[in-house]
Amino acid sequence: MSELFAVCATYEVDDGDARGFVLARLDENGAVKRWPILIARQSKNYYGYENACPHEGTRLDLVPGEFLDREGNFLTCGRHGAKFDFDTGHCFIGPCQGKALTPIKLVIDDGDVCLVDVELAEEDGLDIEDPNEVPEVLITGD
Ligand code: FES
Repeated sequence: MSELFAVCATYEVDDGDARGFVLARLDENGAVKRWPILIARQSKNYYGYENACPHEGTRLDLVPGEFLDREGNFLTCGRHGAKFDFDTGHCFIGPCQGKALTPIKLVIDDGDVCLVDVELAEEDGLDIEDPNEVPEVLITGD
């Protein structure tokens, strides 16, 4: 049976927008590692991606929380302007054209946007204001 981890409530991501979260995972050596992700929404569809640009691996939101192009039609990287489709994460213009964001499987469960079968280090770090910090309070992910 799949394990779910609720990241946020569905209403916390506006239609046509995206939000970033920083979770914590264990690396292969058992060390806690920051795991920035983003959840994008179009109508009733939610899309999860790792918040790492395929161009240089940095976060898309140069300004924290800003994931959209000026018109709000596409996900964009604030660093060099790559644009990505909401629904596929495919980069169609920019220095990583032809590559794609790494998708994260999501399910909607009882009004929550949930990750499926992702082994989190311990706690999420959702309460951290500075998204560059590693979560301090850790609990076992479920
Ligand atoms: S790092 Fe994203 S376009 Fe260069």
